[in-house]
Amino acid sequence: MDIQFLGHASFLVNFEGTKILIDPFISGGPGDGIIDIKTLEADYILISHGHGDHMTDAESIAKRTGALIVSNYEIVTWYEKKGLKGHGLNHGGKFTFDFGTIKYVQATHSSSLPDGSYAGNPGGFVIWNDQNAIYFAGDTGLNMDMKLIPMLCPKLDLAILPIGDNYTMGYEEAIFASDFVECNEIIACHYDSIEIIKVDKEIVSKAFAEKGKKIHFLDIGASKEY
Ligand code: NI
Ligand code: MN
Repeated sequence: MDIQFLGHASFLVNFEGTKILIDPFISGGPGDGIIDIKTLEADYILISHGHGDHMTDAESIAKRTGALIVSNYEIVTWYEKKGLKGHGLNHGGKFTFDFGTIKYVQATHSSSLPDGSYAGNPGGFVIWNDQNAIYFAGDTGLNMDMKLIPMLCPKLDLAILPIGDNYTMGYEEAIFASDFVECNEIIACHYDSIEIIKVDKEIVSKAFAEKGKKIHFLDIGASKEY
């Protein structure tokens, strides 16, 4: 498996050959001018919630690639009305696709679509197959439901957690989150994109290291292998 950071909270996961694009937001975001959305490949596009900084480029990429949009029922229905194909989940539900399983899990946040449509409740994803298991928390505060993940899913190789505070949990809570999901390997997201969510990477890295955890700050466009 390898994971490419596309900026903010966008990732492209190559899951043993299956390309899973998560929360695509390149246009107008930190990845704009670095990531070429016209050549991004995707078999699946996962959308955690309806906010623009998580789905701005989903429609154009889905149209070009034919990727299947996986999100909650309301968001998927919204895209289906635009002629795109999707698979709607809801909290606690999972479905096994050709490449592996996706489970939609609790996130404490808000959610509405750019045109004001109801977007259901926000979520995160646990994605796994025989080789790998990752947790993408989405925009969320720390919540006790995270403790259900190790009870219900395979042992995680990696957790992708927001750390920027203000709109999501900050890094102090993300340390607890990584405890709750029982994963010591973390990739940071939802930080530094705008002034209000700037972090001091040195302080954050040290705080995780003190708990025996490793947090990675990927450069936009950079990939990491697992
Ligand atoms: Ni959000
Ligand atoms: Mn966000």
